[in-house]
Amino acid sequence: MKLCVALDLPDEKDNISLAKSLKECDVWLKVGLRSFIRDGKNIISELKSINNNFKIFLDLKLYDIPNTMADAAESIAGLNVEMFNVHASSGKEAMKMVKDRLKGMKNPPIVLSVTALTSFDDENFKSIYNESIEKKALQFAKDSFESGLGGVVCSVYESLMIKSCTNESFLTLTPGIRPFKNAQKDDQKRVADIETAFKNRCDFIVVGRPIYQAKNPLDAVKKILEILPEK
Ligand code: C5P
Repeated sequence: MKLCVALDLPDEKDNISLAKSLKECDVWLKVGLRSFIRDGKNIISELKSINNNFKIFLDLKLYDIPNTMADAAESIAGLNVEMFNVHASSGKEAMKMVKDRLKGMKNPPIVLSVTALTSFDDENFKSIYNESIEKKALQFAKDSFESGLGGVVCSVYESLMIKSCTNESFLTLTPGIRPFKNAQKDDQKRVADIETAFKNRCDFIVVGRPIYQAKNPLDAVKKILEILPEK
């Protein structure tokens, strides 16, 4: 199980100093909408220049018509990131077109799809998708698997079920992780601790606020890495 640290800080320099403080740590870095829109694509090369071994997950959650998504995927593949994501609700045609566009490239990034955001509870999810999270997340995961994607973004609570209905090597990346006792949930609804993530065979855990809002983010990361079981 790998730790992916969300660089969601209010300023580019804050994200950069957080990344610098984690220079020696075996972590993935997640560049999300806030940073990418504000800082642009140069943020990727800046992070790589801190430590070229940092692996980067570009969390832009693409959602558009198939051709536009494939065009965007092709541009992302030129950015030197190891992983990015799309929304599974964009449909199989779009996901297949994204994968097709990356075919033949040298070391293309892993493509994940978002099933159900961890900020949804069953009630507000149902009001949009007219299904329970469990049922729909599973269908989205199967669609993504059949479209050739590498895995999904889901909550810890869907990870095991998704693996058993697709393939053990189909990746699950799970946000909504609250590693420390008595932590705030913030806007996340389906949260879990590291132990639960491990039991549910999650491949990646994403942690943002519990790290960057900690008094000492490096200490927080070290504590997480200490309890992170090797897989
Ligand atoms: O601060 P926190 O640990 O809640 O951050 C979670 C991160 O994961 C945020 O950057 C959020 O955008 C992202 N994310 C999520 N749920 C998803 C996909 C991504 O929380 N389904």
